[in-house]
Amino acid sequence: MDKITLEIDAIKIKTSRGITVLEAAQKADIYIPTLCHHPKLSPFGSCRLCAVEIEGMPGFPSACITPARDGMVVHTNTPRVQESRRCFLGAILSQHPHICLSCEYRDQCEPQQECKKGVPLAERCCSLFHDCELRKVADYIGIPDGLPPYKPRNLPVVTEESLFMDYNLCISCGLCVRVCQELIGVGALGFVTRNDRLEIGPIAGSFKESGCKFCSACTKACPTGALCAMQG
Ligand code: SF4
Ligand code: SF4
Ligand code: SF4
Ligand code: FES
Repeated sequence: MDKITLEIDAIKIKTSRGITVLEAAQKADIYIPTLCHHPKLSPFGSCRLCAVEIEGMPGFPSACITPARDGMVVHTNTPRVQESRRCFLGAILSQHPHICLSCEYRDQCEPQQECKKGVPLAERCCSLFHDCELRKVADYIGIPDGLPPYKPRNLPVVTEESLFMDYNLCISCGLCVRVCQELIGVGALGFVTRNDRLEIGPIAGSFKESGCKFCSACTKACPTGALCAMQG
C-alpha cells in the first residue's frame, strides 16, 4: 500500500495515503476539536473548529477535509490556531446558551436547582446534565473574550415518541441530517425553512410524517442537547 509520512505537533506519523489530516492526528492520539465530524460520514467541513496550521499553506485549513500529504508539517495547537478556532466558536455560542460553560459553579449545579447567579432556566446550558461535546470543545479552545450575552431565541421544544428536540440548542452542525441520510438511509431530517428561518429538523411537519423510524441514531451524533432520546 502507498505510504506517506507527515509530522503533526512534532510527531512523525506513517500512514496510508487517502486519509485526512484529522484522521492522521487521531491515529497518533492527537486531539483536534470537532463539532461536525463523524468517522462514518462523508466530510462536511462546516464548523471550522478543526482548523490547523500547515507549513506552506495559507490560512487555517480544516483538518477534517484536508488530505494528509507526504512531508506535511502540521501544528494543531498554536496560539494562532486557537485564536482562529475561538472566532468560529464565538459565532456558534452567539446563538447558543453559554453562561454555564464558563461558570465557576457549573460542576456543582443540578439542572433544575436555583441558579446561584440568577440565570433563568431557558438561558442555562444543558451541558450541566448532558454529556456535551460543545462543552468539551469550549473547554479546550477557551471561551472567546467579549462574547455578547446570549439572547434567548424562544424556539420550539418538541417531544415526539422517544425523541426530544430543543431548537434553541441546535448549532446547525448537520450531523443528525447526515446520520439519518447516510447511515440509516431514511432522510427524515434536513435544512428546512420555517417562519422565515432556516433550521434543521424533520423535513415534513413532524418526525413521523418525515418517515422517522425513531432509531435514535441522530441523537447519538448530536454534539449538544438539541436532539436527545428520552429514557423509558
Ligand atoms: S445554573 Fe447558574 S450557577 Fe449553575 S452553572 Fe449555570 S450559571 Fe452557573
Ligand atoms: S431517529 Fe428518526 S430522524 Fe433520527 S436517525 Fe433515526 S430515523 Fe433518522
Ligand atoms: S440537532 Fe444536533 S446534530 Fe442536528 S444540526 Fe442541531 S446540533 Fe447538529
Ligand atoms: S470538524 Fe472540521 S469543519 Fe467541523
